[in-house]
Amino acid sequence: MGQIIVVTSLKGGVGKTVLSSSLSYRLAQLGKRVLAVDMDLGTGGLDIALGREDSVIPTFLDLLGGVVRAEDALFPGDDGVYFLSAPVFFNESSLDQISQENFNAMLDYLKSVFDVVIFDMPAGGGAAFRFFEESDRVDQILLVSTTAPTSVRAAERCAMRLKNPEKAKLVLNSFRVKKPGDNPFGVIEVIYRTSVPIIGVVPFDSGAEKALAKGLPLSANPKSGAGKAIGNICLRLMDESVPLLDGVMKKRKRMRFY
Ligand SMILES: Nc1ncnc2c1ncn2[C@@H]1O[C@H](COP(=O)(O)OP(=O)(O)O)[C@@H](O)[C@H]1O
Ligand SMILES: [Mg+2]
Repeated sequence: MGQIIVVTSLKGGVGKTVLSSSLSYRLAQLGKRVLAVDMDLGTGGLDIALGREDSVIPTFLDLLGGVVRAEDALFPGDDGVYFLSAPVFFNESSLDQISQENFNAMLDYLKSVFDVVIFDMPAGGGAAFRFFEESDRVDQILLVSTTAPTSVRAAERCAMRLKNPEKAKLVLNSFRVKKPGDNPFGVIEVIYRTSVPIIGVVPFDSGAEKALAKGLPLSANPKSGAGKAIGNICLRLMDESVPLLDGVMKKRKRMRFY
């Protein structure tokens, strides 16, 4: 049975889409059958992050509504990642026709076909988040935060509001590893404030903006700190034990990162 992973946060611009594309890319490289689903309905950008901007790709609503058959809708890109895009026009009322049973049946189907399915949610989870909260098919909820106090507060509130907080893991993104003192909050402070187990610390990558514009996930450069960190998160998602800052921060004597 495949894993269903939901990538979310209360705040926008914290790196959910970059993380979703980068995890999908790396997991596919590791030989997993991966489906990435853009759930930022109406304003999604996962197609850009995955370099699929100009392709016509069915949406998860097409699949759920039976507009397309799964075997026609799902095919991999050059990177091996399967993809469902977000609808360009979206009205929340279109979700009213979807029952939790329909939704669960779709997740069951996806779990039977893929090793990993990654849902990239909009800030706040969006209108469809309730289906994930109500579903016992969801395996992990990745809460993304930067070290900015407003983002950490949002992660803390998001964790408090989750119906299934035990599924949540924190990804601390855009961490300044070279100058840890530049982070408003350190790693320990963020863990303490959010009370969510941490699954990875992704360094700030000065090339992230350019990579996004080119449709290159950060994990396409496994030598970069961010690429390495995202690779480590993939291994942890596969239940491998990798030290939190392995390969991400150089060991220095008496360095304080917290
Ligand atoms: N690790 C990182 N280092 C530097 N910039 C990042 C990193 N992760 C994301 N970004 C930048 O943050 C911005 C928002 O990322 P995005 O994934 O679209 O956020 P969200 O999906 O949460 O709204 C993008 O411009 C992206 O380049
Ligand atoms: Mg996004």
